[in-house]
Amino acid sequence: MTGQKIDGIAVSTAVKDRVKAAVKELQNSNVTPCLATVLVGDDPASATYVKNKQKACADVGITTKDHKLPASFSQKEMNSLIDLLNKDDTVHGILVQLPLPNQLDEFTTTSRISPIKDVDGLTPYNIGLLTSGRAILKPCTPSGIMEMFDYYKISLEGKNVVVINRSNLVGKPLYNLMLEKNATVTTCHSRTKNLKEHCLAADIIITAIGNRAKFVLTEDMIREGAIIIDVGTARLEGKLVGDVDYDNVIKKASYVTPVPGGVGPMTIAMLLKNTVTAASISREFVKHD
Ligand SMILES: NC(=O)c1ccc[n+]([C@@H]2O[C@H](COP(=O)([O-])OP(=O)(O)OC[C@H]3O[C@@H](n4cnc5c(N)ncnc54)[C@H](OP(=O)(O)O)[C@@H]3O)[C@@H](O)[C@H]2O)c1
Repeated sequence: MTGQKIDGIAVSTAVKDRVKAAVKELQNSNVTPCLATVLVGDDPASATYVKNKQKACADVGITTKDHKLPASFSQKEMNSLIDLLNKDDTVHGILVQLPLPNQLDEFTTTSRISPIKDVDGLTPYNIGLLTSGRAILKPCTPSGIMEMFDYYKISLEGKNVVVINRSNLVGKPLYNLMLEKNATVTTCHSRTKNLKEHCLAADIIITAIGNRAKFVLTEDMIREGAIIIDVGTARLEGKLVGDVDYDNVIKKASYVTPVPGGVGPMTIAMLLKNTVTAASISREFVKHD
């Protein structure tokens, strides 16, 4: 059996088309969705991520306000900036690019963002809503993966899902989102014993490690017909790769996401979707004032 590629470009294009239509509708009520981006320091990878997000916003009609700050930016200055952006009615979403330099605490920083402008879904309030199955603004990568399942009509009901990652950004929100869809979810990480046994028992494997020297998901680790979602990103001989030995795994799996062209484009598409949702929420607030 040869499996099917899950095409992240096609799924993200479908999401972006919906976002474009929502932007037009908001513009008709005189709201132009706007994302404020905050980048501290001059890490080239972070700068590229922010640039790509800004370009994706422009493509769908979302405006951006760019805040590029020196590497020495203090926590006090960051708190003041976020307070300003929280109060600015023309800003609907706030994105602080992570990681931050050492003097800035990520939790303190993201927690300060107003939950209705929290387009990364990382504030304690929105995480609480997520664990209660009531989140509106959900973390972008996990919700992008859920969008892929919807697009390919892959049901999670009763499926054994193994997630190899327990980070706040990926593994923990995925656990909650998939539980809501009635999957049986096992979270694995660097201390998990017998990882291969967990993988062999899984109908769906979502892997997000990003370190090829430590881990590669190979075809002997999956069962026939498994669905494989590759979130990991790493550089191998100058090329962008994921966690999965794609060429061999796809011969045994039923679906596999490639890297690049899989989960990556979904993350950006869901950021756009969250920004439009945040702008819609703000319009509701204005209406009811
Ligand atoms: N494509 C996208 O849009 C996108 C979005 C987000 C992240 N990513 C990628 O996804 C990867 C993970 O990101 P992250 O922010 O979640 O990173 P992270 O916080 O470093 O998480 C990595 C996870 O992998 C686990 N792990 C590491 N080595 C392992 C091993 N040998 N066996 C089993 N588990 C192992 C870690 O376990 P411990 O918790 O025990 O350390 C941790 O839970 C990175 O490559 C990142 O670039 C891609």
